[in-house]
Amino acid sequence: MPNRATIISISNQKGGVGKTSTANAFAAGLKRKGYKVLAVDMDPQGNLSSSVDADLSEDALTILEVMKGKAPAADAVQHLSSFDIIPADISLAGYEQELISSTFGRDSRLKESLSKIRDEYDYIVIDTAPSLAMLTINALVAADEVLVPATAEFFATSGLEQLADTVQNVRRYAGNPDLAICGVLFTMHDPRTINGQTIREETEKYARSIGTFVYDTFIRKAVAMGESQTNRMDIYTFNAKSNAAKDYMAFVEEYLSRKESK
Ligand SMILES: Nc1ncnc2c1ncn2[C@@H]1O[C@H](COP(=O)(O)OP(=O)(O)OP(=O)(O)O)[C@@H](O)[C@H]1O
Ligand SMILES: [Mg+2]
Repeated sequence: MPNRATIISISNQKGGVGKTSTANAFAAGLKRKGYKVLAVDMDPQGNLSSSVDADLSEDALTILEVMKGKAPAADAVQHLSSFDIIPADISLAGYEQELISSTFGRDSRLKESLSKIRDEYDYIVIDTAPSLAMLTINALVAADEVLVPATAEFFATSGLEQLADTVQNVRRYAGNPDLAICGVLFTMHDPRTINGQTIREETEKYARSIGTFVYDTFIRKAVAMGESQTNRMDIYTFNAKSNAAKDYMAFVEEYLSRKESK
């Protein structure tokens, strides 16, 4: 029996909430658990690609060429030690406008592109830009689940409703009725400055109101996170004993056990 990868989009329109860090640690963690994992960088900032030292030289194929139909997805996959990746770079930025003015299939290019390699993986993890525009819509249309990394500030600004509205529109109008918000992952938690229990209760109430929940696992603020990215290593390779590595692996385990118990 071939696999049919679960596709998870890591999304939040707010910048700097830990999307890329989560995409990296989630994908690398799933691979450490023995799964076949592909990461797809859908952010023109290319942070996920550079954080795992993907080849971004001029002749490297990126998700842009794949979505444009110039190369099959399989040809753009780079097999790295952390996980397989289809990278992105700044050239993807201009494609946003091109998609908007396309007459056909502008929201399903990524879904179509990934369909041919989906059977080769157990999980496909998509990192998205801090935006809810066409590139992110493509990720949401391709996905089975949306994982929402969020910080305390994000909850304070009610951004979750806007994201939930977009997910609802993708379900209703973009042919992906089963798209699920698989949960909210609280990132960069600093127990010294935040009253953990209060934040937890508030965020849970808020998440419930849009039909999702907050994972029990919180990711603590940890300097190793930034250091691992500067060193272009996933967090487990960089320092498996760091709090960030422990927290993210605990999250991977929570994600998998919730999936099993469904
Ligand atoms: N647990 C953590 N502890 C400390 N720093 C962290 C943690 N997680 C992420 N960071 C740092 O916070 C910054 C933003 O994280 P990241 O790039 O993952 O966010 P993002 O949501 O992908 O940002 P963008 O919206 O720009 O794509 C980075 O410098 C990253 O190293
Ligand atoms: Mg990012």
